[in-house]
Parts: sequence; C-alpha cells; structure tokens
Amino acid sequence: LVTGAAGMLGTEVVAAFEGVGDVVGVDVDDFDIRDADAVERAIRDLRPSVVVNCAAYTDVDGAESERELAFAVNADGARNVAAAAKLVGARVVQLSTDYVFDGSKAEPYEEEDTPCPVNAYGDSKLAGEDAVRQSGADFLIVRTAWLYGHNGQNFVETVLRLAEETGALRIVDDQEGAPTNARDLAEVIRELVSADARGVVNATNLGSTTWYGLAVAILEAAGIDGVDVEPVPTTALRRPAARPRYSVLSLAKLSSLLGRQPRRWHEAVREYVSERQ
Ligand SMILES: NC(=O)c1ccc[n+]([C@@H]2O[C@H](COP(=O)([O-])OP(=O)(O)OC[C@H]3O[C@@H](n4cnc5c(N)ncnc54)[C@H](OP(=O)(O)O)[C@@H]3O)[C@@H](O)[C@H]2O)c1
Repeated sequence: LVTGAAGMLGTEVVAAFEGVGDVVGVDVDDFDIRDADAVERAIRDLRPSVVVNCAAYTDVDGAESERELAFAVNADGARNVAAAAKLVGARVVQLSTDYVFDGSKAEPYEEEDTPCPVNAYGDSKLAGEDAVRQSGADFLIVRTAWLYGHNGQNFVETVLRLAEETGALRIVDDQEGAPTNARDLAEVIRELVSADARGVVNATNLGSTTWYGLAVAILEAAGIDGVDVEPVPTTALRRPAARPRYSVLSLAKLSSLLGRQPRRWHEAVREYVSERQ
C-alpha cells in the first residue's frame, strides 16, 4: 500500500513496486491519514505486507503559519498509519527529511546524529518519526532531501519556468544539500524493502551542492544560455521558515545495505531535464 500515491514521490513508488507485486496507491480522496478509523478500515481490508507512507504536508514555509495542520498530517497521520500497519503485521516505511537537522554540522549527518529541527515542518516530520518508532510496528524510516520528480512542483521546474519567464534568477548559495531524483529514491525504497532494512536509513542521490549550484546545473542540462543567475544569501529571500545551512546526509549505511552507491546528483538531474524535454 502506498499512501500519498498522487504526490511527487508516491507516483514513483507505485511504479517501482509494480514490477514486484500487487500495489495499491491511495491519496487523500480515498482516505485522509488524519482519520484513524478510516486508515484502520482501509488497512484491515487490504491487509498489505508493506505500507509506504508518502502522504505528508510538505509546504515548508506554509507550515510556519499552519503548524497544527502540519502536525496533524505529519505526526498524527504517520501515527495512524503505523498503528494500523501494526494491527495487520505490515511493515511501515515512513518518509522523513534532512530538515530534522539544524545544519550546524560541517560533514554529512549520520542516522544516529541528534535531530534538532529549525522549522515547523521539520518539527512535524520529527514528531512523525517518533510516532512511528513508538507504534510498535515493524518500521523503516527513510530520510531524504531536496526531491524533484515529474509529478509535482519542485525546484527544477521552478528554475526552468523562471528562466523562461524572467531571464534572471536570484538563487540561494549558502544552503548545501543533496538534490534527489524521486524515481531514484523510489527504486532505492524498493531495494531497501527487499533487503529487509529496518530502523533509520538516509537516502539521497550522491554528492552535494547549493541551490545556486543546482540551478546552474539545471540550466546547463537544459541548454539554456544567457540567463543571469545571481547567488544570494538566504536572508535576501525573507522566507517564513528557517532552513538548515548544511543538510547533507551520510550515505554510508545506505551504500552498505544496497551494495552500491546511489547515482551522483548531477547525472540524475541531467537525465530528468532531458526526459522532460
Ligand atoms: N519534496 C521534498 O523536497 C522532500 C524532501 C525531504 C522529504 N520529503 C518527504 O517525502 C515524502 C513525499 O514528499 P512529496 O514531495 O512527494 O510530497 P507531495 O508531492 O506533496 O505528496 C504528498 C501527497 O500526500 C497527500 N496528502 C496530503 N495530506 C494528506 C492527508 N491528510 N491524507 C492523505 N494524503 C494526504 C497530498 O495530497 P495534496 O497534494 O492534495 O495535499 C499529496 O498527494 C513526504 O514525507 C515528505 O515529507 C520530501
């Protein structure tokens, strides 16, 4: 069972599992994960062996003013999904984020590092992780970052749209992370489930850059010249939510579980841009 199946990652997760068994994708029109009874009914009916919970409140800036809603979906919703999974003996795969960290480290975050979110979204996702851990369900928490995919609004699409509309971009160059292709991540989730991985596992594409570095790579990949890309500090954009300055996740555990490293972020971005063209 894949929740959030109409979202950016959920769409790819459904596709990744289609080759290996029966997959049912559901989204908010089927049931709301905030509704514990509806979640339990659906999961009891279906009796899945694995539930991948991709449903989430994902508006990082919006969460600052909609904190209750973010917690209702990301914490209570995750608790409901995990509790129902436990009832039928299913394993739950909970998606989480690099934004559980404050960004004060200068080297990649290990799974065991102590989370300390700097925004409401990160707080709500960390509460979701805790709820899943405490549910008693068999669980895997996959922390990922900076996602883009063909089925959702994301930074790659925004850069290409703004390049076309305005010909000039101001992009933050003091946040570093790992851009991650949703299709690559979905494949990794499938492999982790096959490998019986449990606990917390970081999963992104390999390497890191800033949003500025990513924007330049996107324009290069799209063959767009003559766009003025100005690097600016985070403070220049006055966004409601604070962001970690550095949120690169260590991939050592993932690589040892998979027996391979994920693709480099740059290669994955190039492929995504050429597919959409
Ligand atoms: N995007 C990123 O850069 C990023 C980075 C790190 C981690 N993550 C995590 O990765 C996961 C997938 O993210 P994504 O980018 O694929 O998100 P997304 O595109 O926003 O998809 C989430 C899906 O969940 C649905 N949903 C929202 N509230 C729901 C509810 N109460 N009940 C049932 N379904 C609900 C959404 O429907 P509506 O669209 O109708 O609201 C949407 O279809 C999330 O856990 C997210 O926190 C994302």
